[in-house]
Amino acid sequence: MADNFLERKFEELESKKKIIVRRTGISLDSLLKENRSCRGFDNDVTITQDQLRRIIGTNMFIASGMNRQVLRFRPVTKSEDSDKVLEAIKIGGALPDLHLPQKGTEPKAFIIIMSTDGEDRMTDIDMGISLQTMGLKAVEMGLNVLIIGSVDRKRLKEELNLPLEPLMVMAVGKGIEKITSVQRKSLNG
Ligand SMILES: Cc1cc2nc3c(=O)[nH]c(=O)nc-3n(C[C@H](O)[C@H](O)[C@H](O)COP(=O)(O)O)c2cc1C
Repeated sequence: MADNFLERKFEELESKKKIIVRRTGISLDSLLKENRSCRGFDNDVTITQDQLRRIIGTNMFIASGMNRQVLRFRPVTKSEDSDKVLEAIKIGGALPDLHLPQKGTEPKAFIIIMSTDGEDRMTDIDMGISLQTMGLKAVEMGLNVLIIGSVDRKRLKEELNLPLEPLMVMAVGKGIEKITSVQRKSLNG
């Protein structure tokens, strides 16, 4: 979302500066594969505000439809607030027999995603890019996430006294689940 990205890029090329590509040793493929939805978290591992802010910070570098930059983020780590978030979301709604989250493995930290301009197609696309990017950052930090669209928005806004309507929630923590991937159908047309 850096406003003057093109301008800076142009200046870089103009001054014929060498562009140094920093390699972290973690491939995008491995981050993507590891970034699986997590619905059980290790409650002995406390997620800090600083960790959530580092994850939220990735939004400085993502695209934004018409460069409106409408997304806003609320990190939640205080236990009384986390409890309120838990009450307003549904985890594993498609897996009712599992009764998730299991007691003692609930997520305790969340990032609430809001918009300054309500919700429309562009905002939803922005949110998708944002959620995926934040998920990858969390995985890079050794953490796991769950994207949650099943949110009682009215309740969450009231309970946490949010300035804007919450649209999505991301749970963040250290996963306790052992996840294995199975081959999916081909993506080719
Ligand atoms: C837009 C969106 C909304 C989602 N909402 C929920 C949700 O409300 N509750 C939940 O348990 N999982 C939710 N998920 C997680 C999906 O169920 C999950 O991504 C899907 O089952 C594929 O699993 P994987 O992420 O491990 O590949 C959501 C995912 C996306 C992308």
